[in-house]
Amino acid sequence: MAELIRSRASQGLTTVLGLATGSTPLPLYQELIRLHREEALSFETVVTFNLDEYLGLERDHPESYWTFMHRNLFDHIDVSAENIHLPSGTVADEDIESHCESYEEAIREAGGIDFQLLGIGRTGHIGFNEPGSSQFSRTRRIHLDPITRQDAAPSFGGLENVPTHAITMGCGTILEARRIVLLAWGEKKASIVKEAIEGPINDQVSASFLQDHDNASFYLDPGAAAELK
Ligand code: GLP
Repeated sequence: MAELIRSRASQGLTTVLGLATGSTPLPLYQELIRLHREEALSFETVVTFNLDEYLGLERDHPESYWTFMHRNLFDHIDVSAENIHLPSGTVADEDIESHCESYEEAIREAGGIDFQLLGIGRTGHIGFNEPGSSQFSRTRRIHLDPITRQDAAPSFGGLENVPTHAITMGCGTILEARRIVLLAWGEKKASIVKEAIEGPINDQVSASFLQDHDNASFYLDPGAAAELK
């Protein structure tokens, strides 16, 4: 990621990063912050688009992805505020469709995503593309799977506080990225990682669509890789 940012900046080009939330990318964000502080990596030429946001949360809600990204990355690097994009969690129902279309338009206008970072949910989702999401899906409102809501419950202080819906980039949006990197750590991801990499490509595991991408890599620790043949 750092090499891409540096080499594009030296040619006068911006770098468009697609970013993910969750605990998985935290060590990567720590390293980007270290590179910024200690090795002069600048994010002045970087434009970011996050994958998703919970619907119903204000930006400053402690569990919003807006807050998460600022707390864990944006507040510690020199990315410009106007280059940061996340879907809105507070858009009115009747405006969701146009909001999602504008998000897609902003990605296109930025030149498309150069590097998309992904985690994986236990339902196999990338972003919040729950089972049933088509490989052609675009940015839209999605109903969160019960497993996803259960996994989020501890940080929300109970299942009843977890939003039921989110806005997510679609699988089609994600698959247009020129380079994709999925990270997964720990044994609790082992079975879904196996399905994503060795299982059939279908909409029950949206990460399986990455098998068809020509520049996608999975980075796994031994726990997450434990069930692979
Ligand atoms: C959420 C996010 C996903 C993330 C997943 C896994 O559902 N929307 O982008 O990949 O959580 O979270 P974790 O990295 O904490 O396992």
